[in-house]
Parts: sequence; C-alpha cells; structure tokens
Amino acid sequence: MCGIVGYVGMRNAPDVLLEGLKRLEYRGYDSAGMAVRSAGRLEVIKEVGKVADLERLVAERQLEGSQGIGHTRWATHGGVSVDNAHPHCDDCGNFVLVHNGIIENYMDLREELEASGVQFCSETDTEVIVQLLARLYRGDMLEALLKLIEKLRGSYALAIMNREIEDTFYCLRKGSPLVLGVADGEGFCASDVPALLPYTRQVAYLEEGEIAAVSKGLLQVWTSEGVAVEKAISIIDWDISMTEKAAYPHFMLKEIHEQGAVLRTTLKGRVENGRVDLSSELGWDPELVGSWKKLHIVACGTSFYAALVAERVLEKWTDLEVKVDIASEYRYRHSRADADTLGVFVSQSGETADTLAAQRLARSQGAHCLAVTNVRGSTLAREVHDVLLLKAGPEIGVAATKTFMGQIAALYLLALYLGRMRETLTAAEENRLLDEILRLPYKVEVTLEREESIRELAGKYADRKDFLFLGRGISFPIALEGALKLKEISYVHAEAYAAGEMKHGPIALLEPAVPVMTIIPRDGLYEKTLSNIQEAKARRSPILALATDGDDLITKHASAVIRVPWTDEDLTPFLTVVPLQLFAYHMAKLRGCEIDQPRNLAKSVTVE
Ligand code: G6P
Repeated sequence: MCGIVGYVGMRNAPDVLLEGLKRLEYRGYDSAGMAVRSAGRLEVIKEVGKVADLERLVAERQLEGSQGIGHTRWATHGGVSVDNAHPHCDDCGNFVLVHNGIIENYMDLREELEASGVQFCSETDTEVIVQLLARLYRGDMLEALLKLIEKLRGSYALAIMNREIEDTFYCLRKGSPLVLGVADGEGFCASDVPALLPYTRQVAYLEEGEIAAVSKGLLQVWTSEGVAVEKAISIIDWDISMTEKAAYPHFMLKEIHEQGAVLRTTLKGRVENGRVDLSSELGWDPELVGSWKKLHIVACGTSFYAALVAERVLEKWTDLEVKVDIASEYRYRHSRADADTLGVFVSQSGETADTLAAQRLARSQGAHCLAVTNVRGSTLAREVHDVLLLKAGPEIGVAATKTFMGQIAALYLLALYLGRMRETLTAAEENRLLDEILRLPYKVEVTLEREESIRELAGKYADRKDFLFLGRGISFPIALEGALKLKEISYVHAEAYAAGEMKHGPIALLEPAVPVMTIIPRDGLYEKTLSNIQEAKARRSPILALATDGDDLITKHASAVIRVPWTDEDLTPFLTVVPLQLFAYHMAKLRGCEIDQPRNLAKSVTVE
C-alpha cells in the first residue's frame, strides 16, 4: 500500500529509484513520482499511471543526480492525479517527502496551517506533513523531526530531503514498514527488501517511532525521544533471482509453479524421524504448551483462508478451543484472549495493519503470540514472542499463491507439534500423516503438470460473469480461496459457499449461465457434496468438479472434471488449491487482465 524508496551514493539516483519502484509496484500502482537533488535544486517529477510512465518522463527530462526519493501510490486521501501523486513539497520548495500510511489528524493540521496562510496544492494528508515540517525547522533537522512526531497521529513511513542538507536524507516510521540499506559509499531506504536486493543485502529495520539519517555508507538512528541508537545490520538471505520472472510471462504463474519447492523448503529441517521438531525455533517447554486452553488464529485475505484450513486440523489433532477471525473484526470485538491463549497471527508480509493491531491487542490481554510469516524482519515478526517462517521466498504477484502453500504447511506442522506436546495425537498417527506430508511436494508437481487441461477448461468458461464455488469441511476454505483468486485477478464475480449452505440462499442464483465449481475430493463428506451437486445440476448449472484421481463416479455428474492425485483426507487442500489458482490465472489471461497487478488491489495493506 504505497511503496517508498530513497537513495544516496555514486550511482545515478533516478535509475536506482526506478528500479526500486518497479520492485515495489505490487504495493500500489495508480501514480508514481520521484524527487532528485540536481545542481543544488530539488527536482520533482510525477505521473499518473504506472512506474513505466514515470520512467518515460524521467528519460525525456534527462533527470540526473546522486540523491533522491521515490514513490508508487495506492490512493487513499485524494483521487488519482498528478497533484496528489508523491513526492510533496512545502510552498518554498525547501523540503520534499514521500509517505506510506495515513495521517489521521490531517484535517485539523491542515486547517491550522491554512489559517496561518499556507496554500495547499493537493488533497492529500501527506502534504500536511511537509508543510508542517517546513514551519518546525529552525536549522536542526533532528529537532524538527522530533517536533513533527509529536504533532502527527496515524501511521507513516517517510523519506525526506532538505534542500540545505546535501548527501543525507531522513526517514521516520510509525506503523508502516521501512527498511534501511547500506553499502560502501551508498545509503538506501525502501518499504520492502526486494527494492534493495540489486544493490545490497545489508539492511537495518527501523523500529516504531525511530528516526534515521541516511548518508553515503552511514546510517544514524535515534529513538522518538532523540536518543541515538546503535542499529544491528542484518544480512538478507534472499537472492535477486528470486525476485525475477525467469521464463514465465507473469510472477503469479512462476509462483504457482514454485509451490512444490516451497513445500520442500518449509518442511526441511522440521521433520526428523517421523516427528515434527520445531524446538529450535519455538523453544516452548511442555509446561507453557500445557497451560494453553484457547487458540486464536487471526489474519486477512488469503492468509485468513489458510487459517480456516488449519482450524479444521487443529481442532482434530489438539484439544484446544480454536477460534479463527478476520483481523479487522477481531481487533474491535470482545475477543477475550488471556494467559490461557496462544494467539497465532498469519501474514505473508507481516505488515498488514489490522493483523498487527490484532496481535498487539491479544498480547496486551496476556496471550502468547506467534507470527506465521514469510518476512523475517517484518513488524509482526519483531513484535511477537515467537516466529514460524514460511520460507517461500519473495512473492511479487499481488494475488497470494505460494505463500498460501507455505502458510498451510507451517500451520499443519504447528498443529502436529501441538498435538504431540499436548499428547492428543499418537506417535503412530503423527508418523502416518508425516509420511504423506513428505509426499506432497511431488503430488503438487504432478498436479501442476496438468495445467493444459485447466487452461482448456478456462477457455470454455472465460465469458461467464458469475461463478459459485462449493466445498464442505476442509474443502470449504479452498472454495473461498478459489473464488477469491478468480475475483481478484479476472474480475469475474464468484461466491463461495459451504456446500451444505447452498440451499439457504445461493441456489436462487443458479441457472445455465452460472457454473458451479465444486471441490469434491474423496473424503468422508464426498457423498454429501455429491448430493449438493445433484441439486445444482437440477437447476441446469454446469458442474465443474475438482475431484480425486480414480473417482469414476464423478464423471457421471459433472460437465467437466479437474483431477488431483489422492492424498489423506486431511491433506487435500495442499492439492485442491493448485488447479483453482491455475484456473483463475488462465481465466484472467484469456480475459486480458493485468495479472500481477490487479486493479484497486495492493499486496500489502498497511493502512486500516
Ligand atoms: C492483501 C493481498 C492479499 C493478502 C492480504 C493479507 O489483500 O492482496 O493477497 O492475502 O493482503 O496479506 P498478508 O501479508 O497479511 O498475508
């Protein structure tokens, strides 16, 4: 949700900023801009549209310089226009800044500033920050920034340049992510690590309220009270090839095809001799694990659906009372976490604002908090008691695919581990399940090899306007995820229902133009779901069935069948999600949609 980047060093800053913005474009892509120090002036260029549109403008103007800040926007306050695009300047052109976040008291601040004669050029909350900063500055940047922090309410990651100060830019963060980078004679900042990977792997994460001065090869950091802090430098273990498309036309397709490998890396080192071993990561003693009675799992979007899948096995393999909630709901209800509660917060990015707030709430109520995330240095990972990493590598496509696979794998391992420690799952059962879990990477790859038949199916249904997705039990969250993928990237309306609930409403929508995608693996609920298929068929809806290899019965009832290899009934989500991702991908491609950057969406939702 908006990406920011900053650079100072010997390279041409516009090139570094453009490269960084392209790598952050998944965060927002309705307009983009940059400010570059050039011959003592702060030159600002902005454009509506994608980073590629900004790139053309930068080339036309032949912009050059060795220091700059850039921004790619996902509009919140103020429509999509050049005036509202970042960077924003004060009215004297002394300060320029880019912002990710929302200033909640911007109306009050704007009124005060307007009353003192300040003229605004945009409708944004961001312009208020820069106009205010210009009035607080008395020759000492740190002092002005400390005063600025006192005045701002809301969330922000900021990169700021002061015309008077050469070779240094400033950063602030509260509630929105910001990572600093350093290399010999160079300094960087960015909303996310992939923007830095072409230049450095040495990073430092700003904590809440911290202020940084970034200069050539040097990072200086202060707390929100102005006390200098020594920052630890972390070395990123992602490599740059992980952030490139390779031979694939889209990141999403590449990431779907990486899922067998994601499973292997997520399982690696965590399964030994038929048992799950998370002791080196979680360090939980039996007494702590035995003290929990409740399990709250909280997440947003696709991560929420991963949590719903896990809910089924956690209920089955442990004796904990499991509750799963959407973060934006959890944070405002009377959820009653306490010292008896393990709170599990699932977030690919570890930066989703609602998930962060939910975690802080549960923690303040006494819960023990665990993050299940893909990003080691993320805000969520730094705020919780313990972290379980997905190890999926960077995900660039806005629609989550491989991280969903990593999330369910990590959550299944957690469920088995808790089952063992609480003695609710026998060693033999754990062993049997792990045997099959270790076969899943191969079975995911077998499923991926069937892509062509899914592409053909998408070809037959690409013109449909509405779909219904049905599933029961552990397949219900997969129906939700399949429908979400279709909506997100192909803009086709898709509703997902628990198959048994269809008769309570959605059946009224059924007619020959509305296909029903039914997730019906061979499990204990197979016959029940088959009855629901009959009901839909009687309303003349085409039935697309996602079924298990060797299930001959289903061919008699469905217009088309997509198949996955057999697996244990508790593990079917690892396989059934894959064809639905591919179906959404090919539907979107056939409909000419922008697959990696769907309209109105952002990969990381860092505002409430
Ligand atoms: C956005 C993304 C989704 C993602 C959700 C939660 O809506 O478009 O793909 O599932 O945020 O993100 P998180 O990083 O918390 O998993």
